[in-house]
Amino acid sequence: MAFYDHFLQIDHLSKWFATEHGKEPIHVIDDVSMTIEGGDFVVFVGPSGCGKTTLMRIVAGLETTSEGRIVLEGEEVKGPDRKKGVVFQSYSSFPWLTVFENARFGLKFRDDVTKNEKDGIARHYLELVGLAGFEDFYVNRISGGMRQRLAIARTLAAGPDILLMDEPFGALDAQNREFLQVQLLEIRAKERKTIIFVTHDVEEAIFLAERIFVFSARPAKIIEEITVSDHLVREASLELKETEAFFKLRNHLMAVCRAQAQRTEAMIMSPNAAR
Ligand SMILES: Nc1ncnc2c1ncn2[C@@H]1O[C@H](COP(=O)(O)OP(=O)(O)O)[C@@H](O)[C@H]1O
Ligand SMILES: [Mg+2]
Repeated sequence: MAFYDHFLQIDHLSKWFATEHGKEPIHVIDDVSMTIEGGDFVVFVGPSGCGKTTLMRIVAGLETTSEGRIVLEGEEVKGPDRKKGVVFQSYSSFPWLTVFENARFGLKFRDDVTKNEKDGIARHYLELVGLAGFEDFYVNRISGGMRQRLAIARTLAAGPDILLMDEPFGALDAQNREFLQVQLLEIRAKERKTIIFVTHDVEEAIFLAERIFVFSARPAKIIEEITVSDHLVREASLELKETEAFFKLRNHLMAVCRAQAQRTEAMIMSPNAAR
């Protein structure tokens, strides 16, 4: 099979950041490879500071690789473009624009649709995320949960082939987060988007993912890959979180993550000892 027969291929990716002159560079990603097919929902978990955001930024084309490459739909990723839609934890919307204008902004650079079609697309995605009726509200008048839904609508409106979500619900309270988790699964079922989602919340990972990649403490290496359907029957209902199968997988993942977090702490206490 040719290399580009996969939707997305991360191929022996490594990353170092240069530091002050004369000092050793920081090794952040260590030989990460994976293939992702169209329609996959992949979740990355790993300890804080291990390199998850860096990896997402590289996939988005916002950061360069040191070694290895990323191929999306047969083309090597060289920079950001419309194919890659990114949603971060804190959404930088424009407070002086309305909800509708913010969603519409996502379509600014699309030349494949007319002005009227753009309005329709913006409305479609606002409806999809449950913001119909709020079109004329200014962003500073809506809640954090609504802002994240607006971020998702705006990103989807831009027509990406893959959605890259870096702890998008991290700043929300538990109730809002669960509500958005269910909504995201519903949106995905309707739109059949390929999604990579980063979280440090193990339950969120299991609830959303088809596949979970667990990363080590920095430099990020894949230490475990889990296909969730090998462990439980996935469904977009919060009751799944109450089942024994969910609990078992959660406990397993917690143990793996805890061990890595301890490695991170050891590294902070003694930078050379844990390498
Ligand atoms: N532009 C940069 N220059 C230097 N170091 C960086 C840069 N970006 C991130 N890092 C470092 O890379 C490591 C991984 O960061 P990050 O990818 O944000 O981790 P995570 O998202 O898993 O918490 C951290 O030690 C961070 O300080
Ligand atoms: Mg991060």
